[in-house]
Amino acid sequence: MMRLDKFLADMGLGTRSEVKKDIRKGLILVNGTPIRTPEYKIDIQKDQVTAKGQPVSYAKQEYYMLNKPAGVISATTDKKEKTVLDLIGEKQRKDLFPVGRLDKDTEGLLLITNDGELAHRLLSPKKHVDKVYYVRVQGELAEEDIRRLAEGIDIGEEKLTLPARLVIRKNGQFSEAEITIQEGKFHQVKRMFHALGKEVVYLKRLSMGTLVLDGNLKPGEYRKLTKEERDGLC
Ligand code: URA
Repeated sequence: MMRLDKFLADMGLGTRSEVKKDIRKGLILVNGTPIRTPEYKIDIQKDQVTAKGQPVSYAKQEYYMLNKPAGVISATTDKKEKTVLDLIGEKQRKDLFPVGRLDKDTEGLLLITNDGELAHRLLSPKKHVDKVYYVRVQGELAEEDIRRLAEGIDIGEEKLTLPARLVIRKNGQFSEAEITIQEGKFHQVKRMFHALGKEVVYLKRLSMGTLVLDGNLKPGEYRKLTKEERDGLC
């Protein structure tokens, strides 16, 4: 059982005081009857709630895959900058957050959810979850770079980075590769290439564990995870 005002606020219909006003105005129906008391208790499994004519269903946990575009920050709110949460138009829950940070200029896969346990499992370096990035760097990549990344590299932290896998896709003045890492330190991929004497000019995350960026999503687009994708992440 849950208080009606909490239910509505959790589902993103407004702040607690905003939804209380709506309730008192009689705009919220429970099983077809206007309920004017914010502390009224509803059964979230059974009761049908309608707000201003629209049914409100309860979403305990939400999972979205976003193709993060460059130029937005991986935060929940910001006074000046556009955030990844601003891009999720249909969200119900107000407690969503991005799982891990991508830099402002990084694109690609970002999971947005309110499932804290899943976020912990995906981000903890102890869990060894692969994160794969497509990277374009200035300069040529060599076998030596593959070896050094596989051994772990000094990026100015206490310890060397965990072993990373580099697959070179194209070599030249600007080279392209896929790199797989299992941790997510601040600017990690950029710092790893910097330590090899190469600067990253473009970075995009392609996958995180079993979750692979949907090629149909253009930068800035998102969709809900399918049940298979969600279940696959455990
Ligand atoms: N590594 C980086 O350097 N930047 C990112 O956004 C993600 C990983």
